[in-house]
Amino acid sequence: MADGRVIEGVYLSEVYDLHELYGHALAPHAGMIRLRHPHEIDNPEEIRFALSWRPAADAFDPYPNLRLAHSIAAGVDSIINCPSLPKDALVARVRDPDQGDMLAGFAAWHVIWHHRNMRHHIVHETKHEWARLIPSTMKPPRETPVGILGFGLMGRAIARAVTALGFPVVAAARTTPRETMPGVRFESAEGAALRVAEQAAILINVLPLTGETRGLLDLDFFNRMPEGAALIQLGRGEHLVEADLLRALDSGRIASASLDVFDVEPLPKEHPFWADERILVTPHQAGDCSPHRMAEQLARAAQAVVAGDTPKTVVDRSNGY
Ligand SMILES: NC(=O)c1ccc[n+]([C@@H]2O[C@H](COP(=O)([O-])OP(=O)(O)OC[C@H]3O[C@@H](n4cnc5c(N)ncnc54)[C@H](OP(=O)(O)O)[C@@H]3O)[C@@H](O)[C@H]2O)c1
Repeated sequence: MADGRVIEGVYLSEVYDLHELYGHALAPHAGMIRLRHPHEIDNPEEIRFALSWRPAADAFDPYPNLRLAHSIAAGVDSIINCPSLPKDALVARVRDPDQGDMLAGFAAWHVIWHHRNMRHHIVHETKHEWARLIPSTMKPPRETPVGILGFGLMGRAIARAVTALGFPVVAAARTTPRETMPGVRFESAEGAALRVAEQAAILINVLPLTGETRGLLDLDFFNRMPEGAALIQLGRGEHLVEADLLRALDSGRIASASLDVFDVEPLPKEHPFWADERILVTPHQAGDCSPHRMAEQLARAAQAVVAGDTPKTVVDRSNGY
């Protein structure tokens, strides 16, 4: 802080012990910021920022001078939707290019998984069966359009990886992207996601969760996709109407799906997705951001707000991302 005082912050999460997860990464910034759990704070008025993930509905209430709510990740939906978030607080996210690269590798692996029907090979390999697929049933990458919903930090990284493998990409954004990318076509404005889905043999979702995108992946949406398409769902669980995915799989409209994010996490043991051979489940780990990068960006953002500046990592609360 300009006057040399450490900037006081609070951990706000209903689901994680954020000190346990991030204390080590925050330690090098101890001369600048200090974070404590709510029960350790005697004077809530000195709290200027929160590090947060899925805060309780009333989590922000005790802190009248809080000016910044910082996510531990790229997503900010649970913070923006928190009823006690002060109206004038800035909300910031982590912008980690390494996370984009991790997510891109993950998405590319799943594109190949569906494109080459790797489930078939794994099933037969476990039975020691030499079960070649008929080559004429396989289209080359250049005839297999990949749709990407969202063309932000994550969508762009995925597009770079997937086009490098020879797949043509069509991507959806709200506004027309300023930068073009070889091998990528765009759809923007209202209905962009649906227009992308109509063209996609393999559809990757990396949209943020907003009022417009919640429940977007429903039966009507799947019925507009090409017969036998694949879904790679990396956005937020609440984008997907889970029962509708099962219906679309049963009808054959969707042939297979990779799901990394769910309505309820951890995915309950009895959930039908686990046992469904058409679905590959992973535990919300397509791309974690680096705790060290998060800590650096948090320290910089906290300094910026107490200096009266706007941190570079701030999101637009009115857009929801
Ligand atoms: N599974 C994982 O491990 C994991 C990891 C990281 C992120 N994620 C998810 O990925 C999301 C996106 O991350 P990001 O860093 O890429 O976010 P971002 O940089 O904010 O980009 C969001 C993109 O979505 C577009 N968009 C927003 N609403 C739209 C709509 N209604 N229709 C079409 N496009 C729309 C935006 O359009 P404009 O460009 O016009 O603004 C932008 O291109 C996160 O919110 C999180 O949910 C998941």
